[in-house]
Amino acid sequence: MKIKEAEFVTSNTDVAKCPEPKIPEYAFIGRSNVGKSSLINAFTGKTKLAKTSSTPGKTQLINHFIINNEWYLCDLPGYGYAQVSKTEREKFMRMVKKYLASRENLMCTFVLVDIRHEPLKNDLDFMAWMGEKELPFAIIFTKADKLGQGKISKAVATYKRELKKQWEEFPPMFITSSEDKTGVNDLRNYIGEINGY
Ligand code: GTP
Ligand code: MG
Repeated sequence: MKIKEAEFVTSNTDVAKCPEPKIPEYAFIGRSNVGKSSLINAFTGKTKLAKTSSTPGKTQLINHFIINNEWYLCDLPGYGYAQVSKTEREKFMRMVKKYLASRENLMCTFVLVDIRHEPLKNDLDFMAWMGEKELPFAIIFTKADKLGQGKISKAVATYKRELKKQWEEFPPMFITSSEDKTGVNDLRNYIGEINGY
């Protein structure tokens, strides 16, 4: 799939105020600072579409972007970063979970994990919650430019070993970098396939 157009639509704290769920939607979720907003920019080829920051907790709202006038891409606040207060973290998590559980046009949620980190409890818990709610998700490994090929393969194998404890099947997985654009095309094609073109 080619990205011809990518535009910001709205930012919300309330799911009820999000754009009408009339077209397919895909969401990016994951720990704060994992690279959600950066990957949205790499994905769309627009460097300033989603706000990024080296300080965790940058994205605090449910942000909708419309792609090719055909589908929505949604950038969500990150979870689980210790530098954000517990109250704030809980507030974001409630908002995000309400969004995910009620958004009827959501085709797939991409759970982003930093390729350099061992599987983290809050990511695994989050995936378990997605499973309980029967919400389809895929895993995106981010910041692959920070590791060599050997370590990338090792990290993915470690993740799979951990997932096997909980899951009978693996979700789709993508190895990406916003820095050198690794995997960005695979992601575009994956979404294109689900959308049916
Ligand atoms: P929150 O909105 O705070 O939840 O964070 P986020 O997940 O949206 O992360 P963001 O895209 O703002 O990126 C966080 C930091 O990681 C920034 O300093 C980015 O430059 C850096 N970063 C993101 N993606 C990559 C990547 O693929 N490679 C490298 N080397 N750095 C990255
Ligand atoms: Mg962000």
